Amino acid sequence: MQNLVVPTSSQKSYNREEWIKGYNSQPNEYTYWLDDIEGEIPANLQGTLFRNGPGLMDVGGSPLAHPFDGDGMVFAFSFFPNGKVHFQNRFVRTEGYVAEQKAGKILYRSAFATQKPGGWLANCFDTNFKNVANTNVLFWAEKLWALWEASQPHRLDPATLETLGCDRFLESILQPGQPLTAHPTIIKGDDGEETLVTYSIKTGLSSKIEIFEFDRRGKLLKQHSHILPGFAFLHDMAVTPNTCIFFQNPVTIDGLSMRLGFKGAGQCIKFHPHRPTQVILISRHDDFTMEVLETDPGFVFHYANAWEEDGQIWVDAVRYSSFPQLDSDREFGQVDPSQYPRGQMYRFHIDRASKTVRAHLLDDRGCEFPHLHRDRCGRSYRYLYLAASHAIDENAPLQAIMKTDWQTGERQLWSVAPTGFVGEPVFVPAPDGEAEDDGWLLVMVYDGAKHRSQLVILDARDLHRGAIAKLNLTHHIPYDLHGMWTPFLPNLK
Ligand code: CO
Repeated sequence: MQNLVVPTSSQKSYNREEWIKGYNSQPNEYTYWLDDIEGEIPANLQGTLFRNGPGLMDVGGSPLAHPFDGDGMVFAFSFFPNGKVHFQNRFVRTEGYVAEQKAGKILYRSAFATQKPGGWLANCFDTNFKNVANTNVLFWAEKLWALWEASQPHRLDPATLETLGCDRFLESILQPGQPLTAHPTIIKGDDGEETLVTYSIKTGLSSKIEIFEFDRRGKLLKQHSHILPGFAFLHDMAVTPNTCIFFQNPVTIDGLSMRLGFKGAGQCIKFHPHRPTQVILISRHDDFTMEVLETDPGFVFHYANAWEEDGQIWVDAVRYSSFPQLDSDREFGQVDPSQYPRGQMYRFHIDRASKTVRAHLLDDRGCEFPHLHRDRCGRSYRYLYLAASHAIDENAPLQAIMKTDWQTGERQLWSVAPTGFVGEPVFVPAPDGEAEDDGWLLVMVYDGAKHRSQLVILDARDLHRGAIAKLNLTHHIPYDLHGMWTPFLPNLK
């Protein structure tokens, strides 16, 4: 654990007001060439980084109750061979965004916490939650989508980010209204070909998982569905060459309160600290068998990776000791991060012979948004990149990027505390790189002192080099969620 700067526990690594301003709405849509660039952009970094996140924290001045309810705003940084970088951001024209912007007020109930004005009576029996299209993007078979896990994806023009419409996905595989996860997995086979593995989850008294696999041209390869007893909150999935893995966290939903409109759906989730987490293993091969094992209670949103060796499965994931739920009677702007559980890296060892699953804590530090070399998905790997808190001993906003070398145990930390706040680090492999860490990390940084955002490029081999380039925007981008690097370049006039 060398190279870490650890503040004393009595001092915060950030200023609350500066941090919370990073959630302010960004109602404007921009398209421009970046001219405020510090440092040097690597010459062979060419392609587009697409990202998605909630762009609005209010509708017509009425605040939303939770950032996850904000309308999806997709943005793109395109790196051209001549060294120029183009930026654009655009709201996804969902039915809800268009209607609410026209009306200038909240018209929809949102899935996490935002209710329509008028109390529970106005929300009673309204489970037609607004599809906010704000969680992730997917670029596959030359097509781009904005993803949100509780409904259908929205297809976008990758060159202009214009919304082409709510979509039933490749081969119109989804039934009308059928949701599609915001966390598809791209896994490379032994033949070097990538496969897209994605899923749909419909949940209630019981849950149905439907898994789809597509080749790189968008042709359906596999489709199979499975029924699980009970409510399931499955935000993400881990995939190996043989198995799809889901953790069914021990949560239930108070469906009556939700349907009667007393609280938002996200606030009706109840964590059960004495019930096990169910570990669901679904074969990717012809028989598509399902096996369910159990492990200690906890809550997982995101998996870093999974791999198999001699009948054993290993899963690396960010685990919380319980579901990090906001109080329903407290404004979002008033939250104190130190009062909530922090995500921590765990390694789960699944022994299929003894049907046991054991969890090992890998690092104390609070973290989220794991990322690694795309080619290592489903295989043993050496380097993991995470957004992490600056302080090691409590939950705090993400202000640092951490690289872990599982082979040597070495950690590198690059921190932008006290005024900076970071998002998910996206690893981009160097075109002719050989080592697993030969490439760059692209990181969105919000500067709370300047109320501006920048994209920072780090050398993934050595975070201690600091930013090798900073691409300064002329405005801020609210804290985003997930993104994807692609070789796509728009044909800009
Ligand atoms: Co996610």
